[in-house]
Amino acid sequence: MDKLIIEGGIPLQGSIQVSGAKNAALPILMACLLAEGPVHLSNVPRLADIDTSLKLLNILGCETTFEGNEATSDCVDLKPEAPYDLVKTMRASVLCLGPIMARLGEAKVALPGGCAIGARPVDLHLRGLERMGAKFEVTEGYIKGKCKGRLKGAHISLDFPTVGGTQNLLMAASLADGTTTLDNAAREPEVVDLANFLNTMGAKITGQGTSVITVEGVTSLKGCEYRIMPDRIEAGTYMVAAAITGGELEILDCPFQELDAVTYKLREMGVWLQEEEGYVLVRRANGLLANVDVTTLPHPGFPTDMQAQLMALMCFGKGAGIIEEKIFENRFMHVLELVRLGADVRLKGRTAMVHGVNKLMGAPVMASDLRASASLVLAGLAAEGTTTIERIYHLDRGYENIEEKLSGVGARIKRVSE
Ligand code: UD1
Repeated sequence: MDKLIIEGGIPLQGSIQVSGAKNAALPILMACLLAEGPVHLSNVPRLADIDTSLKLLNILGCETTFEGNEATSDCVDLKPEAPYDLVKTMRASVLCLGPIMARLGEAKVALPGGCAIGARPVDLHLRGLERMGAKFEVTEGYIKGKCKGRLKGAHISLDFPTVGGTQNLLMAASLADGTTTLDNAAREPEVVDLANFLNTMGAKITGQGTSVITVEGVTSLKGCEYRIMPDRIEAGTYMVAAAITGGELEILDCPFQELDAVTYKLREMGVWLQEEEGYVLVRRANGLLANVDVTTLPHPGFPTDMQAQLMALMCFGKGAGIIEEKIFENRFMHVLELVRLGADVRLKGRTAMVHGVNKLMGAPVMASDLRASASLVLAGLAAEGTTTIERIYHLDRGYENIEEKLSGVGARIKRVSE
């Protein structure tokens, strides 16, 4: 298994490129199942989860290619079954359910299990599809769905603005008979990117980016060309990298507008950010960081996917700050690893209290999930001495070429295989 070895303490300097957004690319790849005709996607990040999605598309009857950052999919013979072997490695596989139900009126998709960051059920996905006329039973580890004729447009009010649930329902509603209204829909930029992609294929979606999305069903969707939006979480991670090392980075292709809640907190901590044409400049304003309180919330609130990285930065902030995790019940697994590096973080349920310390010291640590791994990389970049991070396959699921990108701006980071 690969490990990352980081010699910390070097202020990062230079330009760093943001890749296409993983969390936009995954649903958009599943939406290719809806198209009659080939889809050509650009700015697709080269990540393990993208390979898994393409494998799933193959199993579901698509011909695919993936060269550089361009991927194509042509759904020539859609099949209804998504096997457990693939779904278990990537929860987002469940996003094939809406498209398959919409096109075939039946589906058999493995039920994604729990994951390291929490139970993450899919009840809201299923309830929404049931409102559209689907019937489900969950047996032998599979969600088995059926519906008589086409799905029917419906009024669906979500109990919680689930990102994946909103995406599954948008895809299903695009090919349903009649109009669907989604109330309390997720407003994440990746939901907007999916809706824009579906509209490029011929769907009629309005209201994306607000809590009420309306979808007028159409009878077919066609292939198209589409460029995936840049990854706001990757960009936010590199903002923290500049601040935590006391360096200065130019972040290229940074979706600055989508990062309001993050940049607000970073500025409050004493990070200087400036948007320029095509890039964002980031550095520590005056050498000192002050701690802040943060609560993770659905967009436009502070993203849970940036919580672990902000915590790494808060380890160096003056005073104490409180982080409250409101989206996932078990998303603090980076805490004990940060403590191994010398951080002072105390946990109580879904709340972490972070007291800034003068320095972190490198140590061997273990990555437990994607964003936890990113926080350990950030902490390692700022710690004195050597940090070795094990189980970095988590990192490869979400950060394209992270060690090349970071070494390009001066980090001493290398990957070793055992
Ligand atoms: C997506 C993102 C993930 C991000 C999360 C929240 C992708 C591939 N993943 O995950 O990186 O951290 O949004 O911004 O885009 N829930 C239910 N029932 C459901 C669905 C969700 O109870 O049917 C709960 C989940 O357990 C969780 C919360 O709602 O506690 C948020 O989940 P959701 O917004 O659906 O996140 P994902 O789409 O899984």
